[in-house]
Formats: sequence, structure tokens, C-alpha cells
Amino acid sequence: MGIARVTLSNGVKMPQVCFGVFKLNGNEAVQAVTEALQCGYRGIDTASYYGNEEAVGEAIKQSGIPREELFITSKVWNDEQGYNETLNAFDRSLERLGTDYLDLYLIHWPVPELYQETWQALEKLYHEGKVCAIGVSNFEKHHLETILKNSSVTPVMNQIEFHPELIQEDLRAYCDAKNIQVAAWSPLKRGKVLSNRAIKEVSKSVGKSPAQVVLRWCLNHDVVVNVKSSKPERIKENADLFDFNLTSEQMKKIDACNEDSRLAHHPDHKPFYDETVPGRKG
Ligand SMILES: NC(=O)c1ccc[n+]([C@@H]2O[C@H](COP(=O)([O-])OP(=O)(O)OC[C@H]3O[C@@H](n4cnc5c(N)ncnc54)[C@H](OP(=O)(O)O)[C@@H]3O)[C@@H](O)[C@H]2O)c1
Repeated sequence: MGIARVTLSNGVKMPQVCFGVFKLNGNEAVQAVTEALQCGYRGIDTASYYGNEEAVGEAIKQSGIPREELFITSKVWNDEQGYNETLNAFDRSLERLGTDYLDLYLIHWPVPELYQETWQALEKLYHEGKVCAIGVSNFEKHHLETILKNSSVTPVMNQIEFHPELIQEDLRAYCDAKNIQVAAWSPLKRGKVLSNRAIKEVSKSVGKSPAQVVLRWCLNHDVVVNVKSSKPERIKENADLFDFNLTSEQMKKIDACNEDSRLAHHPDHKPFYDETVPGRKG
């Protein structure tokens, strides 16, 4: 069964399940994206920060899949923000990906003194038709309010950390009210939620893997999924979510796993900085 699509507020359609490529590099990234495309994924979630846009571009080129069938998302990183800097960063992303447009371009992180200018650059790219849709990532309600107050284009998406241990009810309710599609990053909490007892119990009763149960739970919350794996059997499993469902009791049981516990810093506390990526600072 194919991956269903969701319609964003500007009418653009995107796959509800996209292949995330964070921490995949070089040949491993080419192989994983190739595998994902063969399994039917058409959405790829990359970022300038991940250092793998060339590898993603290479896998896309080798696949022979027409560009218009794909949905490519990339993001402008913290050290590229600002008006002119973002316009240049966008061109570099296009160049590395080997494409002349993006389907979705996101501000990766709300750098307090820069994100408004960065948004103006995204608006320009959108009005020029270089990107089909623009959005944000890791934005809190007050960041979104600032953008909505000062801009004519509403972000189509907020990509946030979302998994059973961080269910982000208030932020999702705000995004829903403003017609901003929520997308999950690290929906499996990088594998950490898969040994959770409640999830294992639901997995047993529906006859699907814990990962499939968690990803179906995301979709039932109307959250787009970005999920990564380097392993062919898991890449396939993670896209196979459309022939089963969860009951409202099972949904509630998974909701109850919430601990408000994050992998990354809270966006208001500290700029994101990954010391494993040399030379890139938040
Ligand atoms: N906007 C942002 O700030 C932001 C931040 C982080 C991530 N992201 C995006 O979100 C994507 C997903 O997040 P993520 O990669 O951090 O975490 P994730 O997708 O929640 O989890 C990936 C981890 O789970 C394992 N895994 C995957 N499928 C599995 C399965 N079916 N059964 C058991 N284990 C499984 C993978 O191991 P193997 O590879 O060994 O299978 C990997 O270690 C990223 O790749 C990136 O595109 C965005």
C-alpha cells in the first residue's frame, strides 16, 4: 500500500511519511535513500546541517524517478541565517542536491536575533517560485506569533520533536488552530521508546512492530512523520503503516507515555549545537 499524502495550507500535497537522513553520510546515505525510494518513499527530509545533501542528490539522480514525483525538504542552519545569508544558503542546498527547486524549505531552529530576517528570505524564495512551500522547525508558540504578526505568508509547517514521551499538546493545538501542519522529528525517539511497556503491549495486540505502532500513533494525531533507518528491513517496515489502525484506547495508552522528555534542548533554553559536527555552531 502506498504512502498517503496530506494537503498543506497552500494546497501543496506531501507524503505523510518521509525518509529522514540525519546521521546518514556518504555511501551509507546514498544506499539508504536508494532503498527508501525503492520501497516507495517519495519524501526525503534533509538539511544543510546534516552534510549529506550531495549524497541525497546522488541517490535521487541514480533512481531515475522524475523530480516532480519527489518531495524534497531541506533546512537553513543557524550559522546561515539572516536575509542574504539565507538566500545564499538556499542556492548552495540546491546545488548540492542537484535540483532547481525545493518542495519545502524550513528554518531549522529559531535563532532569536535572526529568524525574522531569515523568514523574509524564505518568503522571497517562495514568491519567486524557487520553493513550493516554506515553514519552520523547532518553533515555539511565541516564535510563530511573531512570524504571523509581521508577515504575509503563514508557515505551512512546524517540524518539532514529537514522540510518545514528548506529545507537545499545547504547541500542536496552536499549530492546528493556525492551520500549520505539525511534523515529527525523531518520532521513535531514536529507538528509545520502542522498549516502552505500553507500546510493546499495543504492538502485541495489533500484530505490528513497536515502531509501526508509534508511527501510526503519530499519523492518527495528524502529524507528518520523518523517520530514519539505515537498515533495509526497517526502512520498509516504517513505511508500511496504512493497513492497520489503533483504537482510541490504544491511542490514549500511548499518549499516557508522555514525560515531556526531550532529546534536544528546549528551543527557548539554548541554541541547538551538536559538538559531533566540527565547525558548525548553533
Ligand atoms: N528539525 C530538526 O531539528 C530535526 C532534528 C532531528 C531529526 N530530524 C529529522 O527527523 C528524522 C528522524 O529523526 P531521527 O533520525 O533523529 O530519529 P528516529 O527516526 O526517531 O529514529 C532513528 C533511530 O531508530 C532506529 N530505528 C529506525 N527504525 C526502526 C525500527 N523499525 N525498529 C527499530 N529501530 C528503528 C534507527 O536505527 P537504524 O538506523 O540502525 O535502523 C535509528 O537509530 C531525521 O533523520 C531528520 O530527517 C530533524
